[in-house]
Amino acid sequence: MRAYRYDAYGPVSAVLRLVETAQPRPGPGQVLVRVGYASINPLDWKLVEGEFRLIFKSKPPAGVGCEFSGLVEALGSGVTAPPIGTPVVGFIDPAARPPGALQQFVVVDAKHVQQVDAADLEAACTLPVAGISALQMCRLAELKSGQRVLVHGAGGGVGSFAVQVAKMLGGRVTATSSRANQPVLESLGVESRIDYTTQKVAAWGGPFNAVLDCSSTLGSADIGTLLAAGGHYVRTLPAMPSLLLDPLLNPLRPVKRHALRLKANVDDLRTLLAWLRRGRIRPLITQRFAFTEAVAALELSKSGRAHGKLVVQVQ
Ligand SMILES: NC(=O)c1ccc[n+]([C@@H]2O[C@H](COP(=O)([O-])OP(=O)(O)OC[C@H]3O[C@@H](n4cnc5c(N)ncnc54)[C@H](OP(=O)(O)O)[C@@H]3O)[C@@H](O)[C@H]2O)c1
Repeated sequence: MRAYRYDAYGPVSAVLRLVETAQPRPGPGQVLVRVGYASINPLDWKLVEGEFRLIFKSKPPAGVGCEFSGLVEALGSGVTAPPIGTPVVGFIDPAARPPGALQQFVVVDAKHVQQVDAADLEAACTLPVAGISALQMCRLAELKSGQRVLVHGAGGGVGSFAVQVAKMLGGRVTATSSRANQPVLESLGVESRIDYTTQKVAAWGGPFNAVLDCSSTLGSADIGTLLAAGGHYVRTLPAMPSLLLDPLLNPLRPVKRHALRLKANVDDLRTLLAWLRRGRIRPLITQRFAFTEAVAALELSKSGRAHGKLVVQVQ
C-alpha cells in the first residue's frame, strides 16, 4: 500500500515521503479499514515537527494523520462487528499509538471506529479531532441554553465546529475571524460577526458567559474585558504553569480558565454523528486534496490561514 512516512522530525515538506509499504494486518480486537478520506489538523504537522515529542509516543519512523473514514476491509480475531464493507469513521489516539491516517489501509482497535451512513463518509472524517474538541470546549465552559458565547478564531476547523455546537446547545454566538474568514462566519449564521484584526476587544459586544478561544491568542486583559462574572474562558492550547494552576485557582477566581486536552471519546463521536445524520451540524470542508497533494494540505494548515476543514481523498 502507499503511505506517508517520515524518518526524522522536521518540516513536513522536507521529511514526509509517500512510500510503498506492507499492508497492515488486524490483530486481536482490531479492524483493518480501507481509508477513503483523511482530515488534516494542526496536530498532524506538529507531531511530524516533533513539537509533542515529550508527550506522545509518536516517534519517527512513523505515519501521519489521526482521523479517517472508509470501509471495513478485514476483522481481527474476536471481532464480529462492524461487518466487512461497513462505512466507518475512526481515530488514532496519538497518546496511545503512532498516527497513520494518510495511508491506504489502517489498523485500529474496533472500539475506535463508528458506523456512518455511506453518504456521510467524507463529512464524518472531520469529526474525531475538531468536532470532539468543540464539544469538549463547550462542556468545559459549562455552556447553558440562552447564554452568550464568543468563539474567537471561528473560521478554522475547531472554531467552525464550536460555533455550530454552541448553537446546538442553545448558545447565542458571537464569532471572530480575520476579514478572509468573514464569509465562513456568515455561512454559520452567528448572531454577530467581528473582524478581530480591525475591531478593538472592547467593541466585541461583551460581557459573555463563555469565551472559546480557538487560536489561544487572547490575553488576561482581553478575558477580563469580555467575560461576565462567573464566566468561563477555554483555550485550545494548554500551557504551563496554567495547566496545573487553573484547576486549583478556579474556585477562587471571578472568571474560570480552562485549557482543552482532547480526549478521544467514543460517546462524543456518537453524539456528533447523530447531529450530522440529522443535519444539525455540517463540517465546512473548504478544500479537498488528492492523496498525492497531502503535503500541500499540511502546509496550508501550518500557514494558520486555512478556512474550515481540509480533507484528503486517500482512494
Ligand atoms: N489541546 C487540544 O486538545 C487541541 C485539540 C484540537 C486543536 N487544538 C489546537 O487548536 C488550534 C486550532 O485548531 P484548528 O484545527 O481550528 O486550526 P485551523 O483550522 O488551522 O484554524 C486556526 C484558525 O485560527 C485563526 N487565527 C490565526 N491567527 C489568529 C489570531 N492571531 N487571532 C485569532 N484567530 C487566529 C485562523 O483564522 P483567521 O484567518 O480568520 O484568523 C484559522 O482559521 C491549533 O493550535 C490546534 O493545534 C488543540
